Amino acid sequence: MSLLEVNNLSIDYITGEGTLRAVDDVSFSLEQGESLGLVGESGCGKTTLAKSMMRLLPDNGFIKAGEIIFKGDDIVKKDKEGIRKLRLRDIAMISQSAMNSLNPVHTVGDQLVEGIRAHSNATKAEARKRAEEVFEIIGLEAKRLNSYPHQMSGGMKQRAIIAMALSLNPSLIIADEPTTALDVVVQDKILKKITEIQEHIKSSMIFITHDISVVSELCESIIVMYAGRVMEKAKTEVFFKTPFHPYSLGLKNAFPSILDIGEELISIPGAPPNLMEEQVGCRFKARCPYRTERCQKDEPQLKQVEEGHFMACHYPERIGEFTEKASKRETWEAVRERLIDEGGDGI
Ligand SMILES: Nc1ncnc2c1ncn2[C@@H]1O[C@H](COP(=O)(O)OP(=O)(O)OP(=O)(O)O)[C@@H](O)[C@H]1O
Ligand SMILES: [Mg+2]
Repeated sequence: MSLLEVNNLSIDYITGEGTLRAVDDVSFSLEQGESLGLVGESGCGKTTLAKSMMRLLPDNGFIKAGEIIFKGDDIVKKDKEGIRKLRLRDIAMISQSAMNSLNPVHTVGDQLVEGIRAHSNATKAEARKRAEEVFEIIGLEAKRLNSYPHQMSGGMKQRAIIAMALSLNPSLIIADEPTTALDVVVQDKILKKITEIQEHIKSSMIFITHDISVVSELCESIIVMYAGRVMEKAKTEVFFKTPFHPYSLGLKNAFPSILDIGEELISIPGAPPNLMEEQVGCRFKARCPYRTERCQKDEPQLKQVEEGHFMACHYPERIGEFTEKASKRETWEAVRERLIDEGGDGI
């Protein structure tokens, strides 16, 4: 049995202007010990998906359909007490803004000890010992436990948060842009630390990021989301060798660090669709260089294109041609011009 199985999950936000479907019919599974990278442009539903797994959606967010089966139980159906137990002990989330959630009037040590005790039977002394251990593992001196948040740098605070998240050896770590607010060197060190710990405690991980080059280094598998849907999923190795989906091909172009030196940086013109509106056909159609009549009408479903590699595009057999054209600037320039012709700004 997989550790986590998400089946046909759909999530809506109710807003003043109407209902927005942020996650639409998403399915995937995660094995024990597996690390999965979740990528896609801003607003494609990554955080919404992550929050739903902890049942942390804001008041206007609703799971409309589907299941989130974790260790055999459906998280969607759990009551308050079931959810409380699940958080931290079973599933821990590290988010970008987490460091701001430290309480300024208590030392980080006291907060860490309290967190450990709230979710385990540990005595104060045991919890303190565990806090010292995890601080050392994450690269902070134990004496830092006596610091107040304002006495620490951003990198230290984020490390403290990560120490908290990992203190109870959770089975699943969800890291949502855990280091975006930090400088690149600190980012790199912390990311390596997180994966080291994740491998050490044999937990699974969902790693959310804009930066697909990070996924290529840290994760075993990858899911590419676009406008609330999964466009492609595969083992990382396979994906970076042969991405299939036109959107993935475009994303790959936009990340120079995974291209060979000398290759050009090309961005995908246009923007994702407005999720307040009903979606007809493929969600990527407005920006896809290869769209056809069929893409305007029929929404492609996620289908296996080779062993363990899934994609939602009507044309898997045209992958060779798509890949070749996707590396050319004029292919995307043509999309930009088409967007302008259609009344958009083509940016
Ligand atoms: N509380 C909310 N109320 C209404 N709409 C929301 C709310 N939170 C998110 N959304 C919308 O839901 C969609 C998905 O947002 P989400 O934050 O999950 O995206 P994301 O992929 O995490 O983006 P980013 O990369 O910018 O963090 C977006 O269109 C967003 O505007
Ligand atoms: Mg997000």
